[in-house]
Amino acid sequence: MLELITAIIKPHKVDDVKDALLANGVEGVTLTEVRGFGRQRGKTENFRGSEYHIDFIPKVKLEVIVPAENAERIVAVIAEAAKTDKIGDGKIWTISIDKLLRVRTGEQGLDAV
Ligand SMILES: Nc1ncnc2c1ncn2[C@@H]1O[C@H](COP(=O)(O)OP(=O)(O)OP(=O)(O)O)[C@@H](O)[C@H]1O
Ligand SMILES: [Mg+2]
Repeated sequence: MLELITAIIKPHKVDDVKDALLANGVEGVTLTEVRGFGRQRGKTENFRGSEYHIDFIPKVKLEVIVPAENAERIVAVIAEAAKTDKIGDGKIWTISIDKLLRVRTGEQGLDAV
């Protein structure tokens, strides 16, 4: 019924993704500044040119709750807006959620999105 989309993206793509989400009817988004690494393990060549170290690279985590029927489309919207075609463009995953409560009104489920 409801899906939580979590997207890890490059910080400089936040505005592009936000605009794309708003243009596609999303009602709310949570942003968290995070750090992480993927397959390259955050490797960057250091100034000496020969040593490598593992780093947690700054990323942004976006969380969006949408009606399940919209989830696939919204994931595609995020991916298109976040893509630079370079390594580190991020990951997007979804899970279904059981409960959502809109605190002010007491609405639940789809009505609470
Ligand atoms: N398996 C994973 N589990 C949890 N978080 C992940 C995982 N893979 C990537 N991330 C998060 O996503 C961020 C971006 O990952 P990244 O885009 O580098 O993935 P990748 O698989 O290495 O792809 P690419 O080869 O395009 O770089 C990481 O910094 C980390 O925060
Ligand atoms: Mg990577």
